[in-house]
Amino acid sequence: MDDSITIRDAVPADAPAVREVGLVTWPPTYGPIMGDAYVADGLERYWGLDFIERLIAEGRVSVAATADGAVVGMTSVSPGEDGIPVMWKLYVHPDHHGKGVGSALLRAAFARAARTSDRLRLDVLDGNDAAHAFYKAKGFRETGRSSDEENPEWPDTVWMEAPV
Ligand SMILES: CC(C)(COP(=O)(O)OP(=O)(O)OC[C@H]1O[C@@H](n2cnc3c(N)ncnc32)[C@H](O)[C@@H]1OP(=O)(O)O)[C@@H](O)C(=O)NCCC(=O)NCCS
Repeated sequence: MDDSITIRDAVPADAPAVREVGLVTWPPTYGPIMGDAYVADGLERYWGLDFIERLIAEGRVSVAATADGAVVGMTSVSPGEDGIPVMWKLYVHPDHHGKGVGSALLRAAFARAARTSDRLRLDVLDGNDAAHAFYKAKGFRETGRSSDEENPEWPDTVWMEAPV
């Protein structure tokens, strides 16, 4: 990874920049698979400023930042219902893909998960092949699939886990 990029815990002032990572990455990631309405709905549900501020206040977010302070990637890990931590978000600004930023954020997510568990779980949409390949290369294995109850025609959610 570029030496000038560092990974750190997010602070409250990062919230707008973290939200921006979602606004920039969701359209190219999910638009081609799911369409514009899905992207708009997801951005409203999971990337609203209030939602992001709460995640940061709860201490669940790590960011990748350049030397001049720009946030170019983020990850969040939350406790799962059965005690296994879940990485709900891992997003790197498209201009910074393929430079090791995602790997560095994933290491931060592993460290976060290791405080309470020996495993990290994540979900990836069936059809997001680049992310699936990335996770597989990082040691994640598929543990199951689920479909959206309200929209059974949508692609499955693929659940994966890796030891931390
Ligand atoms: C998936 C994502 C987080 C990866 O982050 P990144 O910064 O681009 O990845 P890195 O540069 O750290 O890549 C690390 C390694 O994964 C490999 N890799 C990256 N993309 C890959 C792909 N599509 N297929 C296979 N391997 C891949 C790289 O070759 C590299 O290998 P190395 O460690 O042996 O050198 C990033 O591309 C992204 O934000 N994608 C769009 C959003 C998304 O889909 N997020 C996941 C939602 S579930």
